[in-house]
Parts: sequence; structure tokens; C-alpha cells
Amino acid sequence: MKIPTLSFLSFAFLLSSSIPVSASAPTHEDFLQCLSLHSPNSTSISQVIYTPNNSSYSSVLQFSIQNLRFTSSSTPKPLVIVTPIHESQIQATVYCSRNHGMQIRVRSGGHDYEGLSYVSEVPFVVVDLINLRSITVDAGNKTAWVQAGATVGEVYYRIAKKSKTLGFPAGVCPTVGVGGHFSGGGYGLLLRKYGLAADNIVDARLIDVNGDILDRKSMGEDLFWAIRGGGGASFGVILAWKVNLVDVPSTVTVFTVDRTLEQNATKLVHQWQYVAHKFPANLFIRVIIQGVNSSQSGKRTIQASFNSLFLGRVDELLPLMQERFAELGLRREDCKEMSWIESVLYFAGFPSGESIDVLLDRTPLSRSNFKAKSDIVNEPIPETGLEGIWERFYEEEAKVAVMILSPYGGKMDEVSETAIPFPHRAGTLYKIQYVVSWEEEGAEASKSHINWIRRLYRYMAPYVSKWPRAAYINYRDLDIGANNQGNTSYAQASVWGFKYFKGNFHRLVQVKSKVDPDNFFRNEQSIPPVPSWSKKGGGE
Ligand code: FDA
Repeated sequence: MKIPTLSFLSFAFLLSSSIPVSASAPTHEDFLQCLSLHSPNSTSISQVIYTPNNSSYSSVLQFSIQNLRFTSSSTPKPLVIVTPIHESQIQATVYCSRNHGMQIRVRSGGHDYEGLSYVSEVPFVVVDLINLRSITVDAGNKTAWVQAGATVGEVYYRIAKKSKTLGFPAGVCPTVGVGGHFSGGGYGLLLRKYGLAADNIVDARLIDVNGDILDRKSMGEDLFWAIRGGGGASFGVILAWKVNLVDVPSTVTVFTVDRTLEQNATKLVHQWQYVAHKFPANLFIRVIIQGVNSSQSGKRTIQASFNSLFLGRVDELLPLMQERFAELGLRREDCKEMSWIESVLYFAGFPSGESIDVLLDRTPLSRSNFKAKSDIVNEPIPETGLEGIWERFYEEEAKVAVMILSPYGGKMDEVSETAIPFPHRAGTLYKIQYVVSWEEEGAEASKSHINWIRRLYRYMAPYVSKWPRAAYINYRDLDIGANNQGNTSYAQASVWGFKYFKGNFHRLVQVKSKVDPDNFFRNEQSIPPVPSWSKKGGGE
């Protein structure tokens, strides 16, 4: 790729006008100079660069940060934020970052659990894709091109504007960005029917380490495979995805049935483990577990909420539930029929009757300090095991803690473990996500809550997958291993790499070694290259 060069005049304009340049690190100034010189239009690049001296810098940085743990004054901040409006500005940023020793962190929706899209210990620039979020839906061919800065809420909205019977199988929270979400797998209520978001990607556009823009054909099948579940951040800057849309009925049915320990929750959760992954694929029932104050006794108890999407009408659902999971005691009045897009709002927690326009609001629905972890379950947990979990949810630190059990089976059993890097397929009963949140400021509060979730995680070891104890990359957890400043060996990275990707980790390293042998695109959990594999694809 040829990066157009600009005259020195435009650089002078850049420095003297809208971009306040920090007097600090020379890399920073050199980097800005480079950006100006290598951007096709210096005026427009000047409008999308923010340094700490710029009055909007903090608000731009904070806007999409989901985890307040990474907003403290001690959190390392980027020297520069670029919010490109043209792809060429990303090409220039890649070029200049490489030449001036800056690391790049790419941010789409900012929902990374460990803040890796906007925090780094080494001098870095954030490329925030908030302005690159156009979505083109082709309802006739049931496809869409989605720019990486779009949120899943925006995707659902644009699909719904074109068709009431098309949808897309991605996450529940509308403000999650498709750049991170699709590249790590991405799942939601359509998982059992249609698999992951990444299973439904048919093309992509990406800027590689050389600044070249590649599509599926020019990047080749290995790289295209890697970015569908292997995490985009190791391989380049994903610009856009082409996805296949999926059929949804014009009417779906939703329900949420809450049961406390006094209402037999333990037995119901125990039973759910045997049936949920075997339901027909159009029925998805997840379980959300948390401590609550009982509405009857006022005492603390544990509540299991059975939260469900059925791709059909209530008349079909009731007999099915009677046959497969009668113990839950589902009644007609527990169920609501609605369109699929209304169900998106229901699961996101919006009140009934809310306009679907809320899906266009990128402001995170709620923010807190949080720490999360994940597990994969292959054997039902005995009731005594469940009771041990409940005990931990009674602890003080677990006041705002939740455990979400999402059933697999259906389509997830049909896709091979190696089809894309996401390996958790046939044999998985369900995935667990653990989250603990807190409002209190300060290191002590963080420490006690994080220790709580670590204790719970240790407790769960006998009940969940082993060798490896699997985890989901989109529920990023640096406790399971992290690269040192983004540089590490195959052996060190394989500790967490096998948890996220099982045997696919090896192929991800091969791809990385070929496309980014010098490890420019890196973070604390990126895929490491093995230099000797860079030519032949090695490692066999
Ligand atoms: P963010 O911008 O923080 O990026 C995450 C990672 O991807 C970073 O490493 C980043 O550098 C990289 N990246 C982002 N854009 C890129 C690009 N264009 N090119 C290359 N690399 C890029 N998951 C799920 O499967 N189902 C769900 O229902 C939910 N729900 C949910 C709710 C809430 C409130 C949160 C905070 C998170 C979830 N998630 C989820 C997890 C979510 O899928 C995960 O955090 C994604 O990585 C978020 O993607 P973003 O683009 O928002 O994050």
C-alpha cells in the first residue's frame, strides 16, 4: 500500500491549530508529525486526534469504558486517541505506530472485561472505531456488511428496519461492539439455533501490519479463520464484517420465571442441567443466579431466574415445557409473545413498550467496577455442589454478584471444534459466567471482591471442564495467564491459550507467525508468533 504523503505545511497546521500536543514524550510528537505527513487530508486527521491536552480527551476516552475498574487516575492512559472517519487514517496510524515504537490498542465497543482495548503499560495509541459504524442490510440476500465500530444494538436495529423475520445471533447487551464481540465468538439467545456470531461471518475487511486492506480472498482462509473467534487484536485492525442473517419467526415467546431456594431452586437448577442442552434448538432457557432479599420473609436467599427465548408461539411452548421440564411449572401468564426485535429489548432489560430507537444509544446501560470469569460444564453439578455455590453467594462481597448458566447443544453440537478458533462445542452442557460488581472506590474494595470471585472459581474446579479448564475469550480474564508486556513464548501463552482455544491455539500461533512475525499487534493475551514458523507456517 502506498501511504500518501503531505507537505510540511499541513504538519504546521496540525500543530498550531486544533491539536494540542503534549510537551512530554518525543515519541508522541514524532508520532503526531508522522500521522500528519502520512494522512491524505491533514485537516480531517486533525479533527480525529485527541491528546491529554485536548479538552475532549477524557470524555472521548471514558465514553465507552464499561468497567470502572479502569477509569482510576492510576490507570495508564493512551498518549493519543484517534477516532478515524476514513480507513486511510487507520492505515496511517498503523504505519506511524510501527515507526515510532507505539503500541496500538483498537477499541470498538470498549466492553473488554480487562480494559485491553484502552489500557497498556507501554506507550500506546487507541484507535477508537466509534465513527466507523455503518451497516448495510441486504434483506433479499439475507446478508449485511457491518463496520467494526458498530454495536450489536445498532446491528439489530438496522436489521429490524428492513425485516421482521430476520435476525442475527449475537450478544444480549446492545452496547457491545462488533469489533471485539464477533472476533471473540459472540453469543446470545439464538445460540442453540444458529451458533455464534462468528459462525455466521462470511467475509471481512482488515488492515494488516503492513497497512494493507485485505478482504477474505486476499487475506486467505487461515487469517480469515483466525479472526472469527481467535480475538481480532492479535492479527490487525478489523474494519468490517459481512454476515449471514438468520430467519426468525414474526412472533417469538419470552419468559422469566424466578425461583428462590424456598421455591425449590436447587432441584430446578439441578434438573435444568439434564434437559436444557437437549431441548429443540428453538428453545433457549438460561439460568441467572444471584442473592436476593426474599419478598416473603425479607431474609437473604438465592434466586434462580429461568430466562427464556422460544422461537415460536406460546401455544407451542407450553406443551413442550410440560413434556420436557414440567418441574418448572411454567404458566401461560408467565409468557409474553412479541416480535424478535422486541425480545432484544426485553432481554436487554428495557421496559415493555420502549421504542427500538434505544438500540442506537451507545451509552453503556450501566457501569460499575467488576471482575468476571467463565467456565465450561460437561457433567451436571450435583445438588451438594450447587449448595456450596449458594453458600458463597451469601458472603458480604457477593452482594452484587451473578452467575449466568447458558445452555449449549443444538447448533453448537453440530459445528466442529476446529471450524473456527472457538472450540467449546459438542459435549458442552453449558457455559458459566461469574460476575461480581461493586460501587465502592479504592483498592481495598476491589481486592475483597476480586478475592471473592477467585475463591468461588477455586471452589468450582471439581465441577467444571478440566485439562484444560476452559474459558471464553470474550469473558477476558487475566487471572488465567497474561503475556509480559505483550511479549511471551509459545509455552507461556499456551497456559491461557489452551483454555480459550484448546488445540486451535496451535493454528492461531501459526497464523500469527505468518501475518505478524514481529508481534506488532499485541496485548496481555494476544497470540504470540514463533519466529521460526514465519516462513513455512511451521510447528508441524
Ligand atoms: P473492546 O472494544 O473493548 O474490544 C475487545 C477486544 O477486541 C480488545 O482486545 C480490542 O483491542 C479488540 N478489538 C476491538 N475491536 C477490534 C477491531 N476492530 N479489530 C481488532 N481488534 C479489535 N459476550 C457475549 O458473547 N455475549 C453477551 O451477551 C455479552 N454481553 C456482554 C455484556 C456486557 C455488559 C459486557 C461488558 C460484555 C458482554 N460480552 C458478551 C462480552 C463481549 O463480547 C466482549 O467484551 C467483547 O470483546 C466486547 O467487544 P467490544 O468491541 O465492545 O470491546
